[in-house]
Amino acid sequence: MKLLHIDSSVLGPHSVSRQVSAAIVDRLRQAASGLEVTYRDLTLTPLAHLSGPHLAAAQGAAPEAALQQDLAAGQAVLDEFLAADIVVLGAPMYNFTIPSQLKAWIDRILVSGKTFKYGPQGVQGLAGNKRVIVAVSRGGYYGPGTPTAIGEHLETYLRWVFGFIGVANPEFISADGIGVGPEHRERAVAGALKAASSLNAA
Ligand SMILES: Cc1cc2nc3c(=O)[nH]c(=O)nc-3n(C[C@H](O)[C@H](O)[C@H](O)COP(=O)(O)O)c2cc1C
Repeated sequence: MKLLHIDSSVLGPHSVSRQVSAAIVDRLRQAASGLEVTYRDLTLTPLAHLSGPHLAAAQGAAPEAALQQDLAAGQAVLDEFLAADIVVLGAPMYNFTIPSQLKAWIDRILVSGKTFKYGPQGVQGLAGNKRVIVAVSRGGYYGPGTPTAIGEHLETYLRWVFGFIGVANPEFISADGIGVGPEHRERAVAGALKAASSLNAA
């Protein structure tokens, strides 16, 4: 079994989502022997944002030499994703949604003919054979029914993205209220780590 572990927080060792994503991977390693783990830190090796030349290259235009390295990096992340049975994603909330580094990664994995395609019935996801577990950390609270719920564009966005490519039930472990105060942070992190340690192997 192949597990792809991705982090996107810019806060390094102070990051909550990194702590929780690592705990998820530890739990899955313990639960299933022989797990082959690939780690990618999207802040240490960021992907470039898509540009006109990227799209032209995707349509078959010969890329400039300067773009070739980046296209190879994009192909590598797509191949990694396609090969993974399990994807564990650290996803902090920055300005109500995912970090731009993570968006740049999503722009490289949502590729027509690879992870989705359009047919007579509309869109068809091609990546439905994966388990996706997302470690979310948010400074505030965005629960259903609260006045801030409308500002939640992280989990709602990722649910849509993974649903679009066929992952019907991505799993989320969240640490919320990290910025509200030390007690909130402590409680949220402890709750998320407990949820991580209780994950099913399969
Ligand atoms: C640049 C930046 C933007 C943030 N924007 C939000 C936000 O819009 N809503 C929120 O609830 N928390 C926000 N926060 C707080 C983070 O979500 C919180 O600190 C969380 O723990 C970040 O995850 P990390 O520790 O893995 O980086 C922001 C933090 C940073 C650094």
